[in-house]
Amino acid sequence: MSQFSATDFDAKAYFNNRPSYPDSLYDLIDQYHRGSRKLAVDVGCGPGVATFQLAARLNSFDKIIGTDVSNTMVERARSRKNDNSGKYTQVSFEVSSAESFSFLSTSQIDNKSLDMITAVECAHWFDFDKFQRAAAANLRKGGTFAIWGYSDAFFPEYPKIDSLIMELTYDEEHGFGKYWDQPGHTILRSMYRDLHLDSNLFTDVQVGYFMEDEIRSKEHVKNEPVPFFMSKFITLGQYQEFLKTWSGYHTWRHLHPNAEKDITDEFIDRILEVYPELSRSSTVQVCWRSFYKFARAL
Ligand SMILES: C[S@@+](CC[C@H](N)C(=O)[O-])C[C@H]1O[C@@H](n2cnc3c(N)ncnc32)[C@H](O)[C@@H]1O
Repeated sequence: MSQFSATDFDAKAYFNNRPSYPDSLYDLIDQYHRGSRKLAVDVGCGPGVATFQLAARLNSFDKIIGTDVSNTMVERARSRKNDNSGKYTQVSFEVSSAESFSFLSTSQIDNKSLDMITAVECAHWFDFDKFQRAAAANLRKGGTFAIWGYSDAFFPEYPKIDSLIMELTYDEEHGFGKYWDQPGHTILRSMYRDLHLDSNLFTDVQVGYFMEDEIRSKEHVKNEPVPFFMSKFITLGQYQEFLKTWSGYHTWRHLHPNAEKDITDEFIDRILEVYPELSRSSTVQVCWRSFYKFARAL
């Protein structure tokens, strides 16, 4: 579980300020997937960031169900679907924990009926062993299990911000270090390297990790230098709004209702000290370390 499930979590701000995923990633999934495309489930879907992209960019599944343990997130996802009436007709949403597929019909549940299960930027919050067993019980033989996400951000053209981001994210005194739900956040930091897929349940595992050293070494950082390139051009002010979607920030704010200055304001001020040529309205490129794990159900 995580702070995202709190009823006062701002799911709309989450949808507006979180990054989405690049076409190149959906191309990878498209190429990896084999066989029928009747039903996909996107667990931990939040406000539907990846669910709607799966519908738009894979454009081949008859039905896609997004599920999330948080009613607030599912409500947000449903209202986005309603705002786009006539679009995304194949998409629906259910409140459900990722470790259960009880929202499926009785003939489908635990009966290897799904063609694909995705878990995007969320599997670190799950009981992972329970989740992979439930996924294997519900995926058809050869069905795709696709997990992906992103962790620490960096600004390719402003390397002095790296250490400020690390301090904000992990420092126990001056950052969010002690405000993260654990072990989830530590699992995310290691980009799921310690979440192992059971070889009795899955085969043909493919993994990718994309780090700042590799991305910065490419000449054309702006043009998708790696297959799963998480990047956005945003103002520093918008980056600050992104920071406010962090579960660690949600906890910090609850514990410091009377703080003189918001912790994210302090962080932006420090960036402006290091790079005085920037302002809150300057547009900068931000990238994220990213990773994926794909596998097929046995
Ligand atoms: C960081 S958000 C990711 C949302 C979305 N997949 C995306 O790519 O932006 C993590 C989501 O996982 C959900 N979550 C956490 N634990 C869960 C669980 N055990 N079962 C289902 N959803 C869960 C949270 O409610 C939250 O919406």
